[in-house]
Amino acid sequence: MAFRNLISSDRGAVRSITINRPDKLNALNRETINELQIAFDQARHDDSVRVVVLAGAGEKAFVAGADIAELSAITPIQAQTFSRAGQRMMRTIELLGKPVIARIQGFALGGGLEIAMSCHLRVGSEKARLGLPEISLGLLPGFGGTQRLLRLAGRPAALELCLLGQSVDAVRAHQLGLLNRVVAVDALDDEVNALADQLAASAPHALAGILDAILVGGECPFAEAMDFESKAFALTCTTEDMREGTRAFLERRKPAFTGN
Ligand code: COA
Repeated sequence: MAFRNLISSDRGAVRSITINRPDKLNALNRETINELQIAFDQARHDDSVRVVVLAGAGEKAFVAGADIAELSAITPIQAQTFSRAGQRMMRTIELLGKPVIARIQGFALGGGLEIAMSCHLRVGSEKARLGLPEISLGLLPGFGGTQRLLRLAGRPAALELCLLGQSVDAVRAHQLGLLNRVVAVDALDDEVNALADQLAASAPHALAGILDAILVGGECPFAEAMDFESKAFALTCTTEDMREGTRAFLERRKPAFTGN
């Protein structure tokens, strides 16, 4: 399907989905949210896709938030529908069953930080600025941002960023765990591609098990989560890739995972 607000391309098993509204700093309007839902549903069901990279077009912004022009005229009922559509799309990313890397070259604000937090790894350039400035609009984050920030960075940071609405630079974002890696602007693509290639060469069922154990198991009580982990561990032992990985270690060679 042709998208109006996204560019989708494949490099081997790595799918890149780029939000392409650079003149609006890639702000998330309704249409873009709907297209992201479709793009991630497609990535989930396409077995040739092992990893997804989510990016924003242009040099300035990953995503500068929900589209404020659309928000300014929204009714409460429309706002609830908009919030639910954004939450559903971001939950689809989080539970994709395949690793998703956010490539953050500049601003990741509001909905931009919210969608980045639904990705599994976030790589930022030194110019990245992250924040939840909704309070300055008389709003609060409505795409899961209060909850994901709380879980990722803890209550003090969640309260500070949401209540004050001030963005943080890449160094502070890294300290808070909001960025996994920070690199020079020129090194961003190499870093993202290297991570994506490493993940694309890994055993996909084991990756899916890890995502499931951490993201779904992590929401269960501890004893249940342990049981969840054991079952996910056992499931990987049904795969040829597990036999290949352990045999390759014993034979002192690199494993060649096939996804079976
Ligand atoms: N929604 C809609 N349009 C947005 C937008 C958003 N969230 N963020 C930026 N834009 C648009 C601007 O209106 C401008 O469009 P125009 O050229 O047609 O006027 C264009 O993108 C460039 O933005 P501009 O503000 O001129 O760039 P800047 O470098 O001066 O400032 C920011 C960059 C990110 C600091 C500023 O754009 C900003 O604060 N954006 C809103 C962030 C926000 O509150 N997000 C949460 C939304 S809930």
